[in-house]
Amino acid sequence: MPMSGDDLLIRPAEDDDIAAIAAIYRHHVLHGVASFEEVPPAPDEIDRRRRAVLERGLPYLVAEREGRVVGYCYAGPYRTRSAYRFTLEDSIYVDAAEIHRGIGRALLTELVARCGGLGYRQMIAVIGGRDQWPSIRLHEALGFARVGLLPAVGFKFGQWIDIVLMQRALGPGAAIPAAMPAAMPPG
Ligand SMILES: CC(C)(COP(=O)(O)OP(=O)(O)OC[C@H]1O[C@@H](n2cnc3c(N)ncnc32)[C@H](O)[C@@H]1OP(=O)(O)O)[C@@H](O)C(=O)NCCC(=O)NCCS
Repeated sequence: MPMSGDDLLIRPAEDDDIAAIAAIYRHHVLHGVASFEEVPPAPDEIDRRRRAVLERGLPYLVAEREGRVVGYCYAGPYRTRSAYRFTLEDSIYVDAAEIHRGIGRALLTELVARCGGLGYRQMIAVIGGRDQWPSIRLHEALGFARVGLLPAVGFKFGQWIDIVLMQRALGPGAAIPAAMPAAMPPG
């Protein structure tokens, strides 16, 4: 079921949202270090990536305000080898003109709930930049703990970029053995 706040609707992304999603991501690729991509992907490529997420049965959500897409998020496999199959990585991007208005929190809250409901057990945030406080604080607010730092694994805008790793349990986490029958398809 879609989730609604005062005037914010969190719902699965649709084909018509691809252009808006591509525009949001384009800004963050060109101007930030959250993504380690350096060339913004075309809308067709964004669409291909969304379909790959959906084929795995994973959520790809947008935040809509007054009919406009103002942010999006999705979950993908953290790594694809089979023993990782209960562990996901989140990706979340908010329109640069709309940040710090609660959109990221609403998106990530819904993503965590859906992924836990699907039987996944851990979620990892791979955060580009050791001083990306909006992202770090957002994940902290959603129960993620910092679990690692990968120094200087990226090089963007002429400088070395660290990765901060954050993690939270989904559902029962590691308290009981995994029970979800279906393995994620290889990717
Ligand atoms: C990170 C991002 C998704 C956060 O979304 P947002 O809509 O701005 O976040 P929210 O308004 O929901 O804020 C959630 C919490 O994050 C923190 N936060 C958000 N913006 C912040 C800022 N500018 N400075 C410090 N903390 C901030 C706050 O702790 C906030 O909680 P609060 O409302 O109680 O203060 C957004 O800033 C963004 O798209 N950044 C660029 C891309 C990116 O870094 N993506 C994450 C990849 S892992």
